[in-house]
Amino acid sequence: MCGIVGYLGSKKTKDILLDGLSELEYRGYDSAGIAVLQNNNFSVFKAVGKLVNLQEKAATFDPSGFAIGIGHTRWATHGKPTELNAHPHLGESSYVVHNGIIENYAALKRNLQEDGIKFLSQTDTEVIVHLFEKELKSSGSVFNAFTKTISQLHGAFAILLVTKSESDTIFFAKQGSPMIVGRDTEDEKYFASSDTPLIGKCSEVIYLDDGDYGYVTPSEISIFDKNAHKKAPHFSKLSTNKLSAQKNGFRFFMEKEIYEQSEVIIDTLMGRISDNEINFEELDSNLFEGINEIKLCACGTSYHSALASSYLFERYAKIRVSVEIASEFRYKEPLLCKDTLFVAISQSGETADTLETLKMAKEAGLKTLVLCNVDNSSMVRLADASILTRAGIEKGVASTKAFATQVVVFWMLTLYIAKIKNSLTPNEIEKQISLLREIPSVLQIKDGLHEKITRLSKRYLHGHGFFFIGRDVFYPLALEGALKLKEISYLHAEGYPSGEMKHGPIALADPELFTIALLPQHMLYEKSKSNVEELSARDSTICAISPIEFDKADDYIKISNVRDYMLEFFEMMVIVQLLSMEIAIRLGNDVDMPRNLAKSVTVE
Ligand code: F6R
Repeated sequence: MCGIVGYLGSKKTKDILLDGLSELEYRGYDSAGIAVLQNNNFSVFKAVGKLVNLQEKAATFDPSGFAIGIGHTRWATHGKPTELNAHPHLGESSYVVHNGIIENYAALKRNLQEDGIKFLSQTDTEVIVHLFEKELKSSGSVFNAFTKTISQLHGAFAILLVTKSESDTIFFAKQGSPMIVGRDTEDEKYFASSDTPLIGKCSEVIYLDDGDYGYVTPSEISIFDKNAHKKAPHFSKLSTNKLSAQKNGFRFFMEKEIYEQSEVIIDTLMGRISDNEINFEELDSNLFEGINEIKLCACGTSYHSALASSYLFERYAKIRVSVEIASEFRYKEPLLCKDTLFVAISQSGETADTLETLKMAKEAGLKTLVLCNVDNSSMVRLADASILTRAGIEKGVASTKAFATQVVVFWMLTLYIAKIKNSLTPNEIEKQISLLREIPSVLQIKDGLHEKITRLSKRYLHGHGFFFIGRDVFYPLALEGALKLKEISYLHAEGYPSGEMKHGPIALADPELFTIALLPQHMLYEKSKSNVEELSARDSTICAISPIEFDKADDYIKISNVRDYMLEFFEMMVIVQLLSMEIAIRLGNDVDMPRNLAKSVTVE
């Protein structure tokens, strides 16, 4: 995920910016840049890849005395990781850095281009600086131009802007993306998109609220709220522990990433949904021409997201789908036909088995698509087309938010194809899109839920095994729940289709067999309930996850009364992730680095 830093003062501006960016490295990035304004002259450096490349480029640059500067680490969303696409972005005499996504950038860009403005990059960010300079020509003041600019932006953003027109000022705005202003001595100001770059540099900080915007100068911090009312700055003391700041106060990265899911889905959806259609700018509409079948191929958690999606593809897009485990697919001598679209799914884009299957598909002349979280990864480079899931870097080895974003992208892709194939009516597509918009709120962890799961977890630390069971998309979710639990707790767990239990596994049922039953009200409730009752009758210990209280269960975790099974899917996903994590923590395990596992599996 992108990171922002800013500095105004008389210390070593370049070093402060580069140090700040290095504190943001843990978030993941693929290019970086800084712009420093001193004596009305800009010095700008950008580099693709690791920060050391940027440091090398700026090695001989040594500004001393008063300066203002902004810096950025970029995790590509719009446009490839190139120097031209790296921030800061230039207008005529101003630079901007930005986190988030400007949803209406395409329309703004068209208007600016009609006015004769030339764009250098493929990013959404560049519109901000051109819009600002256009407003500057007709506005009475620089701040007025900045205010008018941000009022035209839709989406989520955190922005810093510096301009020769006011060379002792940094302008800022925050909407849906974090931004912090810090100060040490009175005439020195800092900015960062998270605490870590500020630790050890500032004593006090202001956590900006959504809708806040303003400017800082050596003598002043001016903040306005979303209603344009001036706010009194509210300073807080800054934590001194960097690792805990990186974890945002959570005990583990995995926990932070579970909580982050609501926020990252906003990024996943951004710019891709309107009221009545799905728009994947990265896809050529003829990708689906002549395609009669989709083959999804992946490993582990990514395989589970593919399996869940296969239900959606057939249900909504009415297209034949098969799902393959990459390590099996490689050697089964598969029949590959040219009317099949081959889709590889991978968080990292580097998993050896999945990468090899992608090569096989290409060699067989199939059209290929990759769903991936890492731009410029091997799979993204190899496939004909790619869709980025925009989960940001995932540090916990057990995948959580990457899975959530994969399912969301697949759901959108289903609707995208449904539109091409006319398999859903416009009204049905609109309804599905309105459901997609509800995912972020469904993923917010409700008061008391985590505490309840922590309490329950103490009853599930022993036994001879777990069965996670569900039907339809809740079966792949059951597989994913079981995988999460075994990865981090080292307890034996299996995912099973609820209806299959009586064909064998029910023989294991006794009080020491723990069943985690996924019982959504909007998908085969009565049938799933009967399957759980069969287990309850044989004395298996049951934890039911459902919006409807279930009296045959030993434990019950209630989900909300949402209006569709896919919303129930996401709420249950969070619960199985938290339950697995709390069991593992009680067992004393390091849930971020479970034994024997690696984050990226680049060997066969
Ligand atoms: C489990 C997990 C793994 C990965 C698998 C594929 O939590 O993360 O099962 O899903 O190794 O990795 P990617 O998605 O990077 O191809």
